[in-house]
Amino acid sequence: MLDKIKSISDSVKKIISEADGSGVLNDMRVKYLGKNGEITALLKNLKNCSPEEKPFIGKHINILREQVEKLLAEREKTLAEIELNKKIESEKIDVTLSLNYPKKGGLHPLTLARNELVDAFVGMGFEVKEGPEIELDFYNFQQLNIPKDHPSRDAQDTFYINDNILLRTQTSAVQARTMESEKPPIRIVCPGKVYRLDDDATHSPMFQQIEGLVVDKNINLCDLKGTLDEFARKFFGEDTKTRFRPSYFPFTEPSVELDVSCFMCHGKGCRLCKGTGWIEVLGAGVVNPVVLKNCGIDPEIYSGFAFGIGIERCAMLKYGIPDMRILFENDIRFLSQYK
Ligand code: DAH
Repeated sequence: MLDKIKSISDSVKKIISEADGSGVLNDMRVKYLGKNGEITALLKNLKNCSPEEKPFIGKHINILREQVEKLLAEREKTLAEIELNKKIESEKIDVTLSLNYPKKGGLHPLTLARNELVDAFVGMGFEVKEGPEIELDFYNFQQLNIPKDHPSRDAQDTFYINDNILLRTQTSAVQARTMESEKPPIRIVCPGKVYRLDDDATHSPMFQQIEGLVVDKNINLCDLKGTLDEFARKFFGEDTKTRFRPSYFPFTEPSVELDVSCFMCHGKGCRLCKGTGWIEVLGAGVVNPVVLKNCGIDPEIYSGFAFGIGIERCAMLKYGIPDMRILFENDIRFLSQYK
């Protein structure tokens, strides 16, 4: 029996150390210590030994059992460690790796500028109106006090489709349509595309405007000034100052142009404001009574003010864009700056 004990003892270390999974280890446990296991068999055979041999052999069987239990426990621990290390290795995250997220889109600077302009007026209670880009000469010009032979038509070089239909040159056409179909009080802004035969660094054949119109009782130039002051502060910054310069538009009387204090140099004079401290932003005025009358509103009862803002111009000023054409090239390197 001692030989058997020795042979098991000699081989068990190698066999257990080669077990490569908890399933194999369990088999080992059964093989040696199970009900029909080899060591259990030895213990069962102990009864065949002589009384003198029994304590000696019994002791060695116990030592062997303890040895096997210890080896199994150690191997179990080692296998668990190997398993864990494998898991850690396979789930390792390299936090220094730069991730290739899909590129996210953003709004075009012109859309950003338009949204901000519209928001500034919606915040003051204006409603948003839209009109057709293919427009009648009637609404684009005639209703606005610009008859067929009027010299001011020269200032807006027009794409005509035929004698009476054109690509609108100004969103002012929407004010004519609105006054014709709605009763005062009217308080609207009309953003949209307009078209003129123009193409250089500060002009494009298609550009966008926002038209504003207020018609009600007792509306005057002071209301216009207050509204545009508020707009200028919202869009260009809280400390922006404004000034009116006299101007001429056939559809307003008196007509003005609005300048804002240069938000880059704060009035000291710089490249943006060409040294003047002021930046020209928009045209405006008190609605010409002729226009009210053309559109079916009694100028004896009602008066109004109107303004027209170039969206590209505002975006160029606000974002420091030197050439209008960049806005239409859709170069991703340029656009991605404005998210
Ligand atoms: N429609 C003018 C233009 O395109 C801008 C404008 C000026 C609109 C004065 C107005 C206004 O409503 O009152 O140049």
